[in-house]
Amino acid sequence: MYNYSDQSTFPARCSCLLFLTKAQRMVHKADLVIIGITVGLAVGIVIASLVFFGIRWYKKRAHLRRCANDRSASTLPIRRNGLNTSIDSSASFSSSVTMNGSDQPVQKPQHSWWNNHSKDPFASASGIPRYPYKDIQKGTQNFTTILGQGSFGPVYKATMPAGEVVAVKVLASDSKQGEREFQTEVSLLARLHHRNLVNLVGYCVEKGQRMLVYEYMSNGSLENLLYNDEKQVLTWEDRLQIALDISHGIEYLHDGAVPPVIHRDLKSANILLDRFMRAKVADFGLSKEEVFDGHNSGLKGTYGYIDPVYISTNNFTTKSDVYSFGIILFELITAIHPHQNLMEYVNLASMSPDGVDEIIDTKMADTCSTEEVRNLAKIAHRCLHKIPRKRPLIGEVSQAIVKIKQQRRRLVKEDTMSFIGDDLSRAVSRIECQQVELRRLASMEERQNE
Ligand SMILES: *[C@@H]1O[C@H](CO)[C@@H](O)[C@H](O)[C@H]1NC(C)=O
Ligand SMILES: *[C@@H]1O[C@H](CO)[C@@H](O)[C@H](O)[C@H]1NC(C)=O
Ligand SMILES: *[C@@H]1O[C@H](CO)[C@@H](O)[C@H](O)[C@H]1NC(C)=O
Ligand SMILES: *[C@@H]1O[C@H](CO)[C@@H](O)[C@H](O)[C@H]1NC(C)=O
Ligand SMILES: *[C@@H]1O[C@H](CO)[C@@H](O)[C@H](O)[C@H]1NC(C)=O
Ligand SMILES: *[C@@H]1O[C@H](CO)[C@@H](O)[C@H](O)[C@H]1NC(C)=O
Ligand SMILES: [Mg+2]
Repeated sequence: MYNYSDQSTFPARCSCLLFLTKAQRMVHKADLVIIGITVGLAVGIVIASLVFFGIRWYKKRAHLRRCANDRSASTLPIRRNGLNTSIDSSASFSSSVTMNGSDQPVQKPQHSWWNNHSKDPFASASGIPRYPYKDIQKGTQNFTTILGQGSFGPVYKATMPAGEVVAVKVLASDSKQGEREFQTEVSLLARLHHRNLVNLVGYCVEKGQRMLVYEYMSNGSLENLLYNDEKQVLTWEDRLQIALDISHGIEYLHDGAVPPVIHRDLKSANILLDRFMRAKVADFGLSKEEVFDGHNSGLKGTYGYIDPVYISTNNFTTKSDVYSFGIILFELITAIHPHQNLMEYVNLASMSPDGVDEIIDTKMADTCSTEEVRNLAKIAHRCLHKIPRKRPLIGEVSQAIVKIKQQRRRLVKEDTMSFIGDDLSRAVSRIECQQVELRRLASMEERQNE
């Protein structure tokens, strides 16, 4: 019995022991699992928090960067107050202070990384290349390749060492503007980019000279094409496209740029055409140079294009740009220069039964439909409204011109143009007769005014 019991208890104890070790092992396993989970959790939390803080840090940096950009963008040369150029200079100066801490760290990595392919070893902190004076002197054959006289100084055509052709605008050298402020202004101008603006591609400040380097526009100015170029006649289609291009350029300045940029000197001489005959707006955004353009009146702008409301109130608004654009539209329609009593003709014509038909540029009479010209003239009249508030926004003007173009496309397909064959020659001679009459009336009125 004993044996039995012994025998029976032994295995029992044994199995008990076995059970114990099994349990112990299971406890160990459970511990390991718990430890594993704990460690896993801990590692997970660490990684998660690293990711979290990393993202936060990155966002903060991005935000700071955006702030820096906003801050420097908000000091773009706004030209709200015509006379008071001191506002412009303080804006430019303050931005040069705010930018020097925050902007440079953003710019530098750009240059060492993906901007390293830049051919120009003089690439500057303003984000666009700084050209060496020597290259420009050579490219302009010692400043002999003059293209024209801009509002701020002569403009030269230059062929740079790499072969690219550019236009170099030499600014008046007796400027009080320091080099640093000039660079600030350049970097602000370089931010304005649009396919209907003549974009700044570089600058040069050396030997007391300050120059702005622009893309070269091979077909010259609209003024030249309308009044001087005998070989190249702008068709109605060309003119409509030019009107649309200009309005898109102004739309970007007024509505796309933050804060808005008012051009203040829109005129056909400041509309340039590239080799595809696409129009771009030039001479925008320069603030300091106004000082030298002021002459004695202090008013900025060009006779014949200035909004009369600006002259009387000294308050230059986007609607003053819209006014100047209205004048350019009538130049496109009539090819009469504002310096040659354009508005007299327009006002006389608007009183006659045939309206704008009488003053249509005869050189394009064979390519235009009177209906479309009348529609464009209607837009131009709205731009010239005496009360700035009642003038359309430039965005509305663009839409209206697009509408004319769309209708035109439909009409051209149906081949129902207004002037055809015999009609055309009769129309041209009629217009010419009426223009002689108008010229007589305008000169009479002028004499009365004297
Ligand atoms: C220009 O603005 C300043 C204040 O910013 C003012 O003191 C000064 O009289 C203004 N000058 C003119 C010509 O309006
Ligand atoms: C900012 O500009 C001032 C004066 O030009 C200069 O003394 C200062 O060192 C500049 N700070 C930085 C961070 O570049
Ligand atoms: C940038 O280019 C120059 C030569 O043009 C080279 O010496 C330099 O190592 C480059 N730097 C980087 C960061 O690629
Ligand atoms: C460039 O022209 C200036 C005068 O306009 C003259 O003094 C200078 O020597 C010329 N330089 C070269 C390299 O021809
Ligand atoms: C001017 O534009 C016309 C039309 O696109 C083009 O045929 C001509 O080559 C251009 N002229 C120059 C000098 O670029
Ligand atoms: C200038 O015109 C704008 C827009 O019409 C107006 O908000 C602003 O008060 C005017 N400023 C002055 C000084 O008349
Ligand atoms: Mg100009």
